[in-house]
Amino acid sequence: MIEIQDLKKTYNGKIEALKGISFRIEKGEIALFLGPNGAGKTTAIKIILGLRRADSGKISLLSHNIGYVPEGEIGKKDWRVEDYLEFLAQLREVQSVEDRVNNVLEKYKAKEMRRRRLRELSKGMYQKIKWIQAVLSDPEILILDEPTSGFDPMGKVEFRNWIMEKKEQGRTILITSHLLDEMQKIGDTYIIINKGLIVDKGRIDEMKGKALEEHFYEVVKESQE
Ligand SMILES: Nc1ncnc2c1ncn2[C@@H]1O[C@H](COP(=O)(O)OP(=O)(O)OP(=O)(O)O)[C@@H](O)[C@H]1O
Ligand SMILES: [Mg+2]
Repeated sequence: MIEIQDLKKTYNGKIEALKGISFRIEKGEIALFLGPNGAGKTTAIKIILGLRRADSGKISLLSHNIGYVPEGEIGKKDWRVEDYLEFLAQLREVQSVEDRVNNVLEKYKAKEMRRRRLRELSKGMYQKIKWIQAVLSDPEILILDEPTSGFDPMGKVEFRNWIMEKKEQGRTILITSHLLDEMQKIGDTYIIINKGLIVDKGRIDEMKGKALEEHFYEVVKESQE
């Protein structure tokens, strides 16, 4: 479970990135956190993770074992995949670090990448490593900021399967993405944010076959007027 109440954040005293947003994501649910560029998604995520401080508001989390796929880069470019993952596993107090890293690389078919440096990875491989580092500690909560960018069609299907497996294990998942067609296949609920305010929330199964993308355009357009 993730719950935020009336979160507000202003950057440099002038950019109102979040103007008071609230939502709740139940355990075992996949919530799509959607909004145009600059809406405030990454800001909200960083506050939930404790990487940024809100001006005001409240956050409740079921667990502090959180896996995070950031929007940007991970680790130092010269790090080898295996060293990077072992370092993170240690930091997160994972048991039997080497075994865990081996198992995860094996599970996600990434063993051939283990000796490569982060800067040598292709975009899709890099995205895979971003996912792998997030699940190292078998987190209760997953927060994924644009996790599918760079995946080829096969990678996207693989990714969907990974997410669904986590959902079946009862994990709580928040995803931001601009690939709405893809997201509609996996989401339970959606939250649409625009200019720091939540403009709509709902359940995917109550959309009665309507495309999420179409709904998104309508809601965002309406909120601009
Ligand atoms: N470190 C920062 N300093 C100043 N302003 C920032 C900072 N980070 C974000 N902002 C501003 O806050 C607003 C929200 O940005 P945020 O990154 O949260 O949007 P987003 O919804 O994640 O967008 P995108 O879809 O492009 O990733 C934007 O106006 C952005 O310029
Ligand atoms: Mg963002």
